Amino acid sequence: MATPQSFKLAGVIGWPVAQSRSPVLHGHWLKQYGVSGAYLPLPVQPERLADAIKGLRALGFSGCNVTIPHKLGVLKLVHQVDPVAARIGAVNTVVVQDDGTLSGFNTDAYGFLASLRDVRGDFKAGSGPIVILGAGGAARAIVVSLLDDGATEIRLTNRTLERAEELSRIDPSRIKVVAWEKRNSALDGAALLVNTTSQGMVGYPPLDLSLDGLPKTAMVSDIVYNPLETQLLAAARKRGNTCVDGLGMLLHQAVPAFEAFYGVRPHVSNELRRAVEATL
Ligand code: ATR
Repeated sequence: MATPQSFKLAGVIGWPVAQSRSPVLHGHWLKQYGVSGAYLPLPVQPERLADAIKGLRALGFSGCNVTIPHKLGVLKLVHQVDPVAARIGAVNTVVVQDDGTLSGFNTDAYGFLASLRDVRGDFKAGSGPIVILGAGGAARAIVVSLLDDGATEIRLTNRTLERAEELSRIDPSRIKVVAWEKRNSALDGAALLVNTTSQGMVGYPPLDLSLDGLPKTAMVSDIVYNPLETQLLAAARKRGNTCVDGLGMLLHQAVPAFEAFYGVRPHVSNELRRAVEATL
């Protein structure tokens, strides 16, 4: 029987939370690494978020992940916000520090880059123009990750132009907003194409995009993971582009969180991938 001090508790706060794959992911690693601890789904209504976050310390939690709809709300509830999370404007991981204060992080940016490097180990964001479709929360984390990795030109296109313009303010000199109607021609000479929109997700229509202008050397990433092989990825793969599916980002964003909660840096294995795939 573990002593209370060595039993580490964490979980994911969301509303609803049943759809979150985090308990499967972290549960897999807890078992694999023989960690004495638990990872729980924690359904928390928006009006109870402040109480729940404050309660982490009292309950002896190491920290928690935060998912929809709390990623923005939790920013104001932690004592320290990591600079990356501050630029993204959202927190997906809260860590209870030794002194009892709460730190907010965002591991989505790390997870996105790691998923690209899983597929192409020498990927560098500065290797050529990048096209990003969409300007929601996921796009924001991805834009920050690519800027921090040295991107020189990001072509950002979104159905609602104003949201793309707003997002481009992070770094107007490196982010060029392209009208949604011009998205096909934005692919000319691109080194990376990323879909962050909901188009192509199960229950949604496929993304309306012609890949004709995209170089065959470009990587294509779709953050949709249900289905894993979206029509965009199938079309890109058929013409020879290297493809990255959305599961990689989901798996890799959990790595720094698990390390912070349990003190072990976990590995994203094929076995883990299969375990999470089985829940899709
Ligand atoms: P998330 O935070 O997960 O990124 P979101 O904020 O709802 O989710 O963003 C979803 C993205 O999909 C947005 O870029 C959205 O475009 P709008 O800003 O115009 O809403 C995009 N999207 C949703 N439906 C779309 C459609 N039918 N065609 C093109 N883009 C669409």
